[in-house]
Amino acid sequence: MKETPWWKRAVIYQVYPRSFADSNGDGVGDLPGVIAHLDYLQTLGIDAIWLSPVYCSPQYDNGYDISDYRGIDPLFGTMEDMERLIAEAGMRGIRIVMDLVLNHSSDEHPWFLSAKSDRESPYHDYYIWRDAGQAEDGPDSVGQASWKWVPEIGQVYYYQFSEKQPDLNWANPALRRELYDMIRWWADKGLGGFRLDVVDHLGKDPDLGVKVKGPRLHEFIREMRREAFVRPDLMTVGEAWSATPEEAKRYSDPAGSELSMVFGFEHIKLDQAEGGDKWDLAPLPFLRFKQVMARWQTELREKGWNSLFWENHDLPRIVSRWGDDGARRETCAKMLAVLLLGMEGTPFLYQGQELGMTNIALLEEQYNDVETLNMIRDRRKRGDVDEATILRAAAAKSRDNARTPMQWDAGENAGFTSGTPWLPVNPNYREINAAEQLGRPDSVFSCYRELIRLRHTLPVLSEGAFRLLLPEHEAVFAYERESAEARLLVECNFYGDTIPDPLDGEERGELLLSNLTGALPGTLRPYEARIYLKNRKGEH
Ligand code: GLC
Repeated sequence: MKETPWWKRAVIYQVYPRSFADSNGDGVGDLPGVIAHLDYLQTLGIDAIWLSPVYCSPQYDNGYDISDYRGIDPLFGTMEDMERLIAEAGMRGIRIVMDLVLNHSSDEHPWFLSAKSDRESPYHDYYIWRDAGQAEDGPDSVGQASWKWVPEIGQVYYYQFSEKQPDLNWANPALRRELYDMIRWWADKGLGGFRLDVVDHLGKDPDLGVKVKGPRLHEFIREMRREAFVRPDLMTVGEAWSATPEEAKRYSDPAGSELSMVFGFEHIKLDQAEGGDKWDLAPLPFLRFKQVMARWQTELREKGWNSLFWENHDLPRIVSRWGDDGARRETCAKMLAVLLLGMEGTPFLYQGQELGMTNIALLEEQYNDVETLNMIRDRRKRGDVDEATILRAAAAKSRDNARTPMQWDAGENAGFTSGTPWLPVNPNYREINAAEQLGRPDSVFSCYRELIRLRHTLPVLSEGAFRLLLPEHEAVFAYERESAEARLLVECNFYGDTIPDPLDGEERGELLLSNLTGALPGTLRPYEARIYLKNRKGEH
């Protein structure tokens, strides 16, 4: 029998280093800051850290614009710090997963500097060019593909994200070889794996448009798997906004020819208006949400592998987004934890999620995120939505919501920095912080820690087959996980009303975990979440 890979039993924690912990008082988090909090992460019980980019970068897109793939940006520390992080984490049983941004480089990467100054440069073909007249110079707007005019050589180059992030030309085998060498070089430092930024964008053909996948995408991923992800224990997860369950199976097929898994975003895109984008707010359609989660669970069963997530550095905080970040914040954050960590797949937590951190209300001039700033500018120019709607969208969905500094304690700047934080600390840090939650048994942190422990000890949580219960119920998200040994039942009241318990009287097994003390027989209290376990041993 093939051994189960480590990442199928793992819980992975994303560190956005810029906002995690600052060790030198410059207001920006850094690698020594991460090292200083490894004990905290070990207490939480996670198996790996996905580290957002720390490579050399002009930081136009906070590190997702790389100018040297083999160097550490001095903002974050040195290569010695990086190696020390890998070693120190390893001593605590924690692997490091690095972020690979392979769709584009920074326009300050030496490859691009050479490419844009000379058509004969060996690096010219590392990027995608058209002669004057073949493509139009377009306005720079993050997330909208366009072309940028370079007068020195009389050509335009292609970009999908911003003009500071020119697309790499994946059709060029020399470029691909160079990237694979770089990946192997990093893997050799003892990494646990890689997260691949916008993997579904690789190799796009500008003539086919951004909506169409690159015709050779899967060929490239398979090649990269063979040439770069050579160590069999490496975990690879691709960010794939466009993925359907069908495609996710292809990316993550159990034969391992492509990736371990992808981040699928179908659930994340449910709270936006039909035909609009993420800024066109709409309430979460609950029944559809359950259906979507269930479809990914059942379709990928034994044919692929799921990632499980509510948050990352691009998404708002989940308690603010789909829950209650007011009076019932803690109960609600725990319910969302139970709901997610009860499913099949590899859970990814984003820093601060384990504390139930919330969105922040920023003034317009306080936004840092280029995507938000461009949205505000573009919508104003378009003139079809009013000012209040624009600002409401920014407040709800800005990536800055996730990027405010980690709330360590009730001291100055939440213990994040002794200097001036690069982005404001959420003023609620006096109530919501790690120090307050660590030793408190009913904290959000304690709930996550217990759920992680259960995932490590109960095989039914990693192996059991998922079945959605009560698909038509308007408030309860319930499902079971079933294996040969056990049956687990997860029941969550997704909303803030007290309701009759629809599973009351059923054979549920013993109560394993609950986010509220006591019980009101026959009812589910606001955001109440429960896990029941029934062992199969002795049954016929
Ligand atoms: C991904 C990253 C995001 C970045 C973009 C461009 O979506 O998660 O932060 O801006 O790719 O690299």
